[in-house]
Amino acid sequence: MRQAGHPQGIVGSAVGWLFALRGSNRRRNIWAVSLLNVRPTDRVLEIGFGPGIAVAEFARHATQGHVFGVDHSRTMVRQAARRSAAAVRARRVHLTQASVERLPSFGDPLDAILAVNSVLFWPDPVERLRELRRLLRPAGRIALVSQPRSPGATRDTTVRAAQELQDMLTQAGFTRLRVEFLELDPPVACVLADNPPDNPA
Ligand SMILES: C[S@@+](CC[C@H](N)C(=O)[O-])C[C@H]1O[C@@H](n2cnc3c(N)ncnc32)[C@H](O)[C@@H]1O
Repeated sequence: MRQAGHPQGIVGSAVGWLFALRGSNRRRNIWAVSLLNVRPTDRVLEIGFGPGIAVAEFARHATQGHVFGVDHSRTMVRQAARRSAAAVRARRVHLTQASVERLPSFGDPLDAILAVNSVLFWPDPVERLRELRRLLRPAGRIALVSQPRSPGATRDTTVRAAQELQDMLTQAGFTRLRVEFLELDPPVACVLADNPPDNPA
């Protein structure tokens, strides 16, 4: 659990490779990106990208846009940068070692934000989500994904996790909440929401 929250050193590196090889991890990340309907010119941000499966998928869609990623693990920044090496060289993918509580500047407002199995590690997540909402353009979208990895996790565990994410997003000022499920074992929930259209960044 400690390594999942902050992969470090040789063990962290192995954990990252396992994340990337695990079929259900790959599927949930690619599925989550598909739900955000990324357009070629979009500017998107992922928090807690781990080995960078979703970052690479974003880069495939935002061909004329920018993909930003933040993860506090140096080990994960290295792995994700290797996975998207060509797009990093082309300055379309920008990966930063930073924690969600101390975000760098991303310049212009963002179109979409994603976090996959990361929110549970954040300090004061509602405050973090408020800050993220301020980075989005009006009507910009966010997707928070949870696939509980606790021993014995079931569909009920996923449904409860989705409810917690919905409550947090509502408290942080997001609107138009909807939930999608991917039937893996255990199921994955993706809670999607929008920055209100009249909320300038
Ligand atoms: C369980 S892993 C998930 C990785 C990836 N999203 C995936 O689905 O394969 C959680 C990731 O969130 C990152 N993380 C956890 N807390 C963070 C924080 N406060 N700020 C930035 N990244 C964080 C970890 O370093 C780790 O890479």
